[in-house]
Amino acid sequence: MKAAVLHEVNQPLEIQEVQISKPGPREVLVRTVAAGICHSDLHFQNGSYPYPLPAILGHESAGIVEEVGSSVNYVKKGDHVITCLSAFCGHCEYCLTGHMSLCQEPELLRKEGEESRLMQNAKPIAQFLNLSSFAEQMLVHEHAITKVRDDMPLDRAALIGCGVTTGVGAVIHTAAVEPGSTVAVIGCGGVGLSCINGAEIAGASRIIAIDTVASKLELARKFGATDVVNAKDSDAVEAVRELTQGGVHYSFEAIGLKATTEQAFKMIRAGGCATVIGMIPVCTMVEVHGPEFLREKKLQGSNMGSNRFRVDMPRFVDFYLSGKLHLDDMISSHISLEDVNAGLQQLETGEVARNVIMFE
Ligand SMILES: NC(=O)c1ccc[n+]([C@@H]2O[C@H](COP(=O)([O-])OP(=O)(O)OC[C@H]3O[C@@H](n4cnc5c(N)ncnc54)[C@H](O)[C@@H]3O)[C@@H](O)[C@H]2O)c1
Ligand SMILES: [Zn+2]
Ligand SMILES: [Zn+2]
Repeated sequence: MKAAVLHEVNQPLEIQEVQISKPGPREVLVRTVAAGICHSDLHFQNGSYPYPLPAILGHESAGIVEEVGSSVNYVKKGDHVITCLSAFCGHCEYCLTGHMSLCQEPELLRKEGEESRLMQNAKPIAQFLNLSSFAEQMLVHEHAITKVRDDMPLDRAALIGCGVTTGVGAVIHTAAVEPGSTVAVIGCGGVGLSCINGAEIAGASRIIAIDTVASKLELARKFGATDVVNAKDSDAVEAVRELTQGGVHYSFEAIGLKATTEQAFKMIRAGGCATVIGMIPVCTMVEVHGPEFLREKKLQGSNMGSNRFRVDMPRFVDFYLSGKLHLDDMISSHISLEDVNAGLQQLETGEVARNVIMFE
């Protein structure tokens, strides 16, 4: 099959022929229909997060089941599925206490000595975050997919695979925003726009979108932003404090920078909570003003929207189909696998929300 392989950090992905194994007892072979390009793919391509190479990137996808392993009865050939990198074992402490997105059980991967799921010229290729979606097929553990309704368009469904689950989940699960509260979101990419949309669904009274790209702020309004702040023209912290008489109840950092993380903490009111979603480069330290903890301000991280994705994703599908999730506006363009490098590069400028690779 054809896949986009990263051989070396900071080099373009190469579209190449690779081999994929047969499903083991608990594995599912999925034909990839659509894969979104998330900024996390770029963080791994440019080495700000290390990963074993060669690897096939991509982790935001939807497709159709082609073949299932001997012990799989959750899905069958022909089922439509969304993938999720938060593969869960179902029996560790994290899983059993409802924090499935923190599960790290190695049993979800093939064991050492077994044939690799992905190979090229008889050498193993690393599977990226349990998935490797920039490929015509994916061979995944059955706990890395959820079934969805057949009437859900699979390009929109792919977005739910990471960005939407991350953004909406950070709002409704990690931060648990209550109706009537005020929210600020820094960064309006696929993840930030999903936070804004999630805050609207949660019933936030005021949703302040912050970005440095004017077109993104216009887009943010379509997702539910009530106010916008261009951080290129004004101080985001001051602007938010002014708009809310002292700060928001909840802020979300959806970029992955030290400076904007510190802003997220500064723009919450006493008792407020700042949630960091962005992948801050490894080795980066974040500084906050210690005495502010006496005002019960909170700073927390969010991984994949603290999801329970087999429950969440079908609900997000229903939200889209009933007009509550604005996924049509999130797709900047549909591209082919051959254009993956241009798609990744466009994330550098902040101009796009999501480029979606369509297969076939
Ligand atoms: N925690 C998780 O589980 C998780 C999951 C998915 C993605 N992420 C991370 O979330 C972050 C956002 O991902 P994305 O795909 O939405 O990215 P993106 O590139 O699509 O969007 C980033 C946005 O931030 C804006 N921006 C950049 N610098 C800014 C600044 N200084 N001030 C204000 N706005 C600025 C850009 O214009 C752009 O609109 C990334 O770091 C990604 O790796 C984390
Ligand atoms: Zn992602
Ligand atoms: Zn587990």
